[in-house]
Amino acid sequence: MHKHHSALGLAATPSGILSGADIAKLRPVQPVTLLRPHAARRAARFFAEKFPGRSLYAVKANPSADLLKVLWNAGVTHYDVASIGEVRLVHDTLPEAVLCFMHPVKAAEAIAEAYFEHGVKTFSLDTLEELEKIVEATSKDGVPATDLNLLVRLQVNNEHAKLSLGAKFGAQAEDVKALLFATRQAADALGICFHVGSQAMSPAAYAEAMGRVRDAIVQAAVTVDIVDVGGGFPSWYPGMEPPPLENYFAIIHESFEKLPISYSAELWCEPGRALCAEYSSIVVRVEKRRGSELYINDGAYGALFDAAHIGWRYPVRLLRDEESDVRPIEFSFYGPTCDDLDHMAGPFELPADVQAGDYIEIGMLGAYGCAMRTGFNGFGTERTEIVQDEPMASLYAAVEHRRSNVVKL
Ligand SMILES: Cc1ncc(COP(=O)(O)O)c(C=O)c1O
Repeated sequence: MHKHHSALGLAATPSGILSGADIAKLRPVQPVTLLRPHAARRAARFFAEKFPGRSLYAVKANPSADLLKVLWNAGVTHYDVASIGEVRLVHDTLPEAVLCFMHPVKAAEAIAEAYFEHGVKTFSLDTLEELEKIVEATSKDGVPATDLNLLVRLQVNNEHAKLSLGAKFGAQAEDVKALLFATRQAADALGICFHVGSQAMSPAAYAEAMGRVRDAIVQAAVTVDIVDVGGGFPSWYPGMEPPPLENYFAIIHESFEKLPISYSAELWCEPGRALCAEYSSIVVRVEKRRGSELYINDGAYGALFDAAHIGWRYPVRLLRDEESDVRPIEFSFYGPTCDDLDHMAGPFELPADVQAGDYIEIGMLGAYGCAMRTGFNGFGTERTEIVQDEPMASLYAAVEHRRSNVVKL
């Protein structure tokens, strides 16, 4: 971690680095991660102010301790953790945070440590076996815990999402009644949760899933205290421009209001991507050009896992002292390792005269990007810099801009 990190980006860095262009001037040999705490803060405030319920940050999207502190300071008090490693990390970083262990398949030892050592009371499950495991692991001297919040995860349609999470987890319709009934007996608070898949491109995904929640409640005839609509809220990437997040919130609110639940029932969501995609970008160097293929110094085993493995596209810009006025063409990237799989097809649009020695900023890597770095083949980066400029795309800056216009009028 670079030494300028500890200040959480609240002030300009002593080095005077404000943007990726300033980094490129220093001609770094390794890739550099740029952090924009102001963008993460803005996203967190947006959810806090506009989502009609409670927002839990899904830590897996980016578990950086600096980011966790930014979100906490912006008002995010609850965290969706999926492993004992994430439980320990968040508990150590933010001792007062409320942790919700939302992986439906957990080790008994992880449940026991989370409950007894880290005060975790909220768990998700999708089978009777997992319910029994949770009850057993949280019992003391054979006496079951009486303070558990247990959320039954339903399997829902993932067809509106760019990245499906629908095959692995979630109780099937025919099992839900018995599972809800049994969970109600063991829980202090009973919840229902689901995940519509990551980068859900239509708010209809949530309306359809809420239809499944309604059917489940009616069939099981149980009192439900929490409805958790999971993650899936989108960010902006080339070729994936989602509708405004307010449209998602409106549909969720409307469907929640129609559910057969008490007035005191709580609505939760678990955004990962939407809270942190704008937090990071990287500055890479072009080491070689072969036609329309650029060999850069970060790749599939670095921050570009999704670009390589699922063809995700990210915004790019050439960082030169003088902007190139050469027309843009489409490039693909090779990463630095010796592996053919270290290839990002893109296409990535850059001026046609890009050459070895140029620097490129690749944006929107705060979610499932910088967090997935490995040191494979000896490549990687330790260097991060807090910058002050805007992310390469933002779902929130436009809203802020509209609001500031209104204030001026
Ligand atoms: C249980 C759960 N909640 C929330 C998330 C975050 O999803 P997203 O980043 O799409 O918002 C995930 C992602 O895998 C998840 O598995």
